Amino acid sequence: MPRVNKICCIGAGYVGGPTCAVIALKCPHIRVTIVDLNQARIDAWNSPDFHLPIYEPGLEDVVRKARGRNLFFSTDVDKGIQEADLIFVSVNTPTKKSGVGAGSAADLNYVELATRRIAAIATSSKIVVEKSTVPCRTAESMRIILEANSKPNTRFDILSNPEFLAEGTAIKDLFAPDRVLIGSLQTSEGKEACQALCEVYRNWVPNDKILTVGLWSSELSKLAANAMLAQRISSINALSAICEATGANIDEVAHSIGQDSRIGSKFLRASVGFGGSCFQKDILNLVYLSESLNLKEVAEYWKQVVTMNEYQKRRFSKRVVDTLFNTITGKRIAVLGFAFKADTGDTRESAAITLIRDFQEERALVNIYDPQVEHSQIWSDLSEASPSMSLETIQRQVSICSSALEACRNAEAVVIATEWAEFKTIDWQSVYAGMNKPAFVFDGRLLVNVEELRAIGFKVAVIGRGERL
Ligand code: UDX
Ligand code: UDX
Ligand code: ADP
Repeated sequence: MPRVNKICCIGAGYVGGPTCAVIALKCPHIRVTIVDLNQARIDAWNSPDFHLPIYEPGLEDVVRKARGRNLFFSTDVDKGIQEADLIFVSVNTPTKKSGVGAGSAADLNYVELATRRIAAIATSSKIVVEKSTVPCRTAESMRIILEANSKPNTRFDILSNPEFLAEGTAIKDLFAPDRVLIGSLQTSEGKEACQALCEVYRNWVPNDKILTVGLWSSELSKLAANAMLAQRISSINALSAICEATGANIDEVAHSIGQDSRIGSKFLRASVGFGGSCFQKDILNLVYLSESLNLKEVAEYWKQVVTMNEYQKRRFSKRVVDTLFNTITGKRIAVLGFAFKADTGDTRESAAITLIRDFQEERALVNIYDPQVEHSQIWSDLSEASPSMSLETIQRQVSICSSALEACRNAEAVVIATEWAEFKTIDWQSVYAGMNKPAFVFDGRLLVNVEELRAIGFKVAVIGRGERL
């Protein structure tokens, strides 16, 4: 069995960075080099004051312990490839924006370029591990590219090792994963390569949590896990609409159904809609895969999960407009939270972006506060969401504030879009004093104490609760 002494990770993003930093921490005998073409990103990973390019609780501590010991960050992709026994491919796989499959298929250009680079550079055998979430059978394409371009006496074994970490809990998830999934070809070489990667994880993951399966099962399991998680949220959100129309309470409904051990209580929190880089992209991948396999009904089934999510966002912004006497033109709305969920600075597919775009289209004034997201990121997301508006026009309507209290000043309504813990301890008395009356709170995250806010004088509308404000 090949033994892994040197690992290279191509792609220093949300997946590659934390995953390989943890591998370095837990395997001091393995030299781990994370490479990326993006100089600014690598500089941030190497910054003397540990101002890392992504915010993730616990990450800084891991990097402090391992960086310079057996963890290195570099833009020298070729050297990283050359030296490694095992290479993780952790590059981005966004949804295609043009061409065949635009809007649903994964753009595999970055995976292909990285794979071709490995083939061009490698002069010794490598285990190549697909870490990015990719459509089923991508490993096969990688294998064909590598074999067609390999040098004599260089063999490549391909593994699929999808990452299940969630942002905000990445380090916790990596330290104690529910499972590590490794897919390989069922040949003796494939199984040996698989065992070599198992050895790496065995340094801290119990053996019974390391699952080894076929290559394609592994690839499909990743898409399926995300699709089923997203489906739970769309299901609970669909029920939240019924609750609002009937006067039932989604918290009570979710708790009641979650007590059934076959259903389970996790991931049943109604919200303003799911976001993040994975859920929508992976479902659309599954839809595209089903369509290309001629499984039209299967494609339609999964597509509905995304449709319901879009509906939930639209329904929420419409409720804001309807409640504010059918117009928000010229009214100030404070949006608390811009990240797609708490404890991350990531905004990809964040529901807040859609809500704010809707408010802009109604010609409202919007104040945004988020404790983590960089201002430049907010401006770039809002510009992308409204391509027909110039940044100057957007900035005439939208302001970024430095605290929740500041954002709420002179507002007619507060919209809670992200469940940041600090929003649970907002001084609502002071917020109320600074707002125009009647003062509304729209809770898209089931976060506030409704009775307490009503006692102060707020009109409170909550996802999945239909009672009078
Ligand atoms: C997800 C998967 O959880 C992870 O296993 C996979 O590797 C990557 O995709 P992530 O996108 O980081 O992780 O976050 P997650 O915690 O799953 O939340 C996704 C979205 O769903 C967020 O917008 C979150 O607010 C929302 N959500 C989650 C709900 O609205 N309700 C819930 O009950 C749970
Ligand atoms: C169901 C609910 O389980 C129960 O809580 C409710 O009170 C009544 O409806 P039941 O219809 O008796 O109970 O059987 P159940 O075991 O839930 O199975 C329903 C159907 O689903 C069966 O045809 C079963 O074969 C099928 N099923 C169940 C699957 O195909 N796959 C599964 O994993 C589980
Ligand atoms: P993810 O959430 O999947 O980790 P990110 O976009 O955060 O995605 O990170 C992917 C990283 O991969 C980016 O920093 C990008 O610069 C890097 N990358 C993409 N293609 C290559 C390549 N061929 N070589 C090196 N790095 C690459």
